[in-house]
Amino acid sequence: MIQAVRGTKDILPDTIGYWDFVESTFRKVSHLFGYKELRTPIFEKTEVFSRGIGDATDIVNKEMYTFTDKGDESLTLRPEMTAALVRSVVQNSLLRESPLLRLWYFGPFFRFERPQKGRLRQFHQYGAECLGSANPEADAEMILLADSLFKSVGISEYNLFINSLGSNESRKKYIDELVYYLKSVKDKLSEESKNRLETNPLRILDSKNENDLTLLQEAPVILDFLDDGSRNHFEDVKRLIAEAGIDYTLNPRLVRGLDYYNHTVFEFQSSALGAQDSFGGGGRYNNLIEQFGGTPTSAVGFALGIERILLILERTDKLQESDSSPQVYIVTANPELISHSISIAGKMRSKNIRTVMDLQKRSIKSQMKEANKVGAKYVVIVGEDEISEGTLTVKNMQTSEQFKQPITSIENFNFE
Ligand code: HAM
Repeated sequence: MIQAVRGTKDILPDTIGYWDFVESTFRKVSHLFGYKELRTPIFEKTEVFSRGIGDATDIVNKEMYTFTDKGDESLTLRPEMTAALVRSVVQNSLLRESPLLRLWYFGPFFRFERPQKGRLRQFHQYGAECLGSANPEADAEMILLADSLFKSVGISEYNLFINSLGSNESRKKYIDELVYYLKSVKDKLSEESKNRLETNPLRILDSKNENDLTLLQEAPVILDFLDDGSRNHFEDVKRLIAEAGIDYTLNPRLVRGLDYYNHTVFEFQSSALGAQDSFGGGGRYNNLIEQFGGTPTSAVGFALGIERILLILERTDKLQESDSSPQVYIVTANPELISHSISIAGKMRSKNIRTVMDLQKRSIKSQMKEANKVGAKYVVIVGEDEISEGTLTVKNMQTSEQFKQPITSIENFNFE
């Protein structure tokens, strides 16, 4: 037997209803906020991500599924959407037509990480991006959208952590100070942090190493380095979300794992998740569009991990599923009457009534059992007598009530 690749999962028919519920609800909420869907290819030229996310990040360094195709081109399965979306927006000149773009997406992403509960090598994200506004109202809209998405599927308790990395200048000034401090304690740092001191010092703030954490208590704090513009922007974002009734916690250590961020960064965490407690995150990326050859344009966005959202819903007993089970099961009493059943099923479906029928020429009893098993709300019996009388027997499977309906108008009955 050939097994699925480690860190990947089949989404089987008995759980697809939960996925469908989240996906269709997110779609509706995105449209309530005026966001339009964008779909891009699953793979891109490798440089989209190495340039977009940053060469020194874990994603680019260790986690990308990169391969050379038969035309000798280096391609990568997308590890995230923001860089690919910006590539698409610039290539298709979308900002020329509408200077404020509101986009959302849903789909599979790939990272070579160590698989565990809530961490996969192929996972799914919903994301939203707002391109074309440098104003704090855009940052606030993203957080309000995320909050509405959570509530729409049944997540009412979560923690929002927020920080500002400031403008490029203030971020750079801060990194210099941070490196200066960390070099003074370099010998005591973990090996990983020592390496990061050379490649990506900001990420040392994310260290889980006990010793590093103690040393970091004395480290300079990014919020003290914000210039006036950055500080005002951040104050406005915090005020706007507080006014909208959203609780947040300031976390001056929050830096996120992708290099394109500046100004606001945020992360959503849930105590219902174990070690992988972050189920979404995002922030501003005012330089990325320019980096991809577009006109300098400010942007902000976030992405949510769908597997982690489903895990939260499962653990808090809030899973809901979209109903795709049949409304009607047609029981054919005698195989010779099957063409009547096919024609009745056709009439039902033309009225949007979800209808199935037996394909194995089984006994009435087995067909009734099957109707029950597939969750049909009604059974319609097609028998010799019924056909000659011109009426069909309908059975309500919940109440067991039986009654007759004329064949000619069977599809007009309310099978809800
Ligand atoms: P990210 O924090 O790398 O951000 O990923 C967002 C979410 O995707 C995570 O919070 C998590 O729920 C989910 N996720 C990431 N890796 C895995 C994995 N291996 N298995 C399961 N779930 C995972 C981004 O991707 C940015 N593009 C977000 C963004 C959009 N920033 C601005 N716009």
